[in-house]
Amino acid sequence: MKSALRGPFLTYTGNPFQDDPASCYRYESDGLIVIDNGRIIHAGAFTADHVPHGVVPDHHPDALILPGFIDAHVHYPQTPMIGAFGKQLLEWLENYVFVIEQRYNDKVFARAIAKLFLREQIRAGVTTPITYCTVHPESVDAYFEEASLLGLRTGAGKVLMDRNAPEALRDSAQSGYDQSKRLAERWHGDGRFFYVVTPRFAPTSTEAQLDLAGALLREIPGLYMQTHLAENTSELQWVAALFPGSHDYLDVYDRHNLVGPRCLFGHAVHLCEREWRRLAQAGATVVHCPTSNLFLGSGLFNLKRALVSANPVRTALGSDLGAGTSFSPLTTLNEAYKIAQLNGYALSAHQAFYLATLGSARAIYQDAHIGSIEAGKDADLVVLDPKATPLLAARQEFSESLEEQLFVLMTLGSETAVKATYVAGRKVHERAPTESVMPA
Ligand code: GUN
Ligand code: ZN
Repeated sequence: MKSALRGPFLTYTGNPFQDDPASCYRYESDGLIVIDNGRIIHAGAFTADHVPHGVVPDHHPDALILPGFIDAHVHYPQTPMIGAFGKQLLEWLENYVFVIEQRYNDKVFARAIAKLFLREQIRAGVTTPITYCTVHPESVDAYFEEASLLGLRTGAGKVLMDRNAPEALRDSAQSGYDQSKRLAERWHGDGRFFYVVTPRFAPTSTEAQLDLAGALLREIPGLYMQTHLAENTSELQWVAALFPGSHDYLDVYDRHNLVGPRCLFGHAVHLCEREWRRLAQAGATVVHCPTSNLFLGSGLFNLKRALVSANPVRTALGSDLGAGTSFSPLTTLNEAYKIAQLNGYALSAHQAFYLATLGSARAIYQDAHIGSIEAGKDADLVVLDPKATPLLAARQEFSESLEEQLFVLMTLGSETAVKATYVAGRKVHERAPTESVMPA
């Protein structure tokens, strides 16, 4: 089944953190994207000749079509407790997260929250979330079952925790391994899904559990791993006390074979240079979670060290809901800009939109499938409305370049700026007329 989109599109072709931004993107002011069976088969300037016979393109003349956004670190089960007041990481986990997560032994509840979470993600233009579930295998089944209704490319995994958590949220090293393996065999490689081995973070796993997580990672080709790394200074002290034999936080994971390609480390705010180098050398990935790091008062991620140095580290973008406070990658980029400012670095609009699309796709080893608009890639697309609100419309009148238009979108935009979202060529979200607050 063929279909097509017509309208302005923007896609990155290179890395604007390393190369001249002007040579890193392709922009078509009147573009045509032709889709067959979920994949892009042609992307270029509009010509009637390229429209397949019998197809009427979805026309978005005043919009900006981008590759669908990636949210590389998020917790779907925390959707019902976003915006919990007043605590930093360790107290916040205990007082809020470990309470709500106990509900997910109930598959009906888990399905309902997974559905809500995914609807919000596509409303925000995210077409690839990588999410933590809870310790309960049901929470993983619920997530993938809901995601399969949308046809999303997505990753998820059962949280592993065998200590320092309430009893109702603890597995054991062996049961955690067995359950994860069963879930991976069920879901990894099913359609567009990948399974993510998910030790929550070093303090909630014994050495035995981390060992088995590392072993599982090697048993099934292509599995991912996700965990948290160096988010908060009290957490760092706790890790040093629990693992006195390790050089630093990353070394705890390294000793259990958990540092390598497709290993995703959320936060990475408080790293020493040795850890940065090891991450780079290993081909591992850090996930920058700006709204979360500000909300929990965790610290300022060093984007310049990560991406602009001679020894760059694969870096993706994440919301980290429910510590993060927005589903919208535009809002996340807005906060990323401010964090970089506080570190003395100005994140440009092209760098920012690269980070939310091709940059994250490359960082998570999915760029063979997603992250850009070109023949052969999956047709996961977001259609932004640069003039979605009266303020945006007024401000864009004064934008003098594509780059300024993008920067204004990330500064003033949010879910409201998403006009439509396509997953594998199918429109899965269209902004309701009432959501656009433009005067007639
Ligand atoms: N560290 C361990 N678990 C979590 C979590 O759920 N959220 C955040 N932000 N950090 C964590
Ligand atoms: Zn997290």
